[in-house]
Amino acid sequence: MRTTGSVRQFTDDPLPDDVLERILDNARFAPTGGNRQGVHVVVVRDPATRQELAELSLPGAKRYRAQAGNGESPWNPLRPPGVDDATVAATDGSPMVRSLLGAQVVLVICLDLSVVAATDQDLDRIGVISGASVYPFVWNVLLAARNEGFGGVPTTMAVAREPAVRTLLGIPDAFAVATVVPLGKPVHQVTKLKRKPVQDFVTRERFDGPPF
Ligand SMILES: Cc1cc2nc3c(=O)[nH]c(=O)nc-3n(C[C@H](O)[C@H](O)[C@H](O)COP(=O)(O)O)c2cc1C
Repeated sequence: MRTTGSVRQFTDDPLPDDVLERILDNARFAPTGGNRQGVHVVVVRDPATRQELAELSLPGAKRYRAQAGNGESPWNPLRPPGVDDATVAATDGSPMVRSLLGAQVVLVICLDLSVVAATDQDLDRIGVISGASVYPFVWNVLLAARNEGFGGVPTTMAVAREPAVRTLLGIPDAFAVATVVPLGKPVHQVTKLKRKPVQDFVTRERFDGPPF
């Protein structure tokens, strides 16, 4: 957990199916709401499909990088973008999508919304509960990959173009695309991750209670 950082650059070493099978076989023990196990993984090796996924990720990446360049928290649901369409269009999104082309394999990880219990569905805010039935699995994939000497990163830029991703891969309407994960042998293995210390985000008894 302390050394599984994002990997976006990969060597040419193969990630064979038997290793990937082991990674997925360990990851499948992730929890899901009510143990409904609505995760579906599409294993993509075809370079043409990966190119399509990279292209579908580009518009989202352009907006992300344009907003980040403007000092904003990109794609934030509470604040509309402070950059105009022309600025987004002129921004280079390619650094954010290269990992999909350089990886040995790309996993498109989907969630069957028809089996999800979303207890926040009637609240006046963006949903978060549904994601909890798929992202523990995604993290398990990354931990299991690290255990085998491989790495990757959850990417989400393609999700802004979910209908096109669905058409590309034949994903049924009831399934949401949760993430697109490139996997391969890391060029560099970062082992020192930057994270807030416990005292900065854990409090006793109340949100505004003393630091734990
Ligand atoms: C929900 C989620 C979405 C993410 N989307 C992207 C993405 O689209 N592209 C990307 O390069 N990294 C993406 N990341 C990776 C984060 O940028 C990364 O986890 C974070 O910066 C910490 O990096 P580190 O573990 O290397 O320190 C995403 C991570 C999460 C958890």
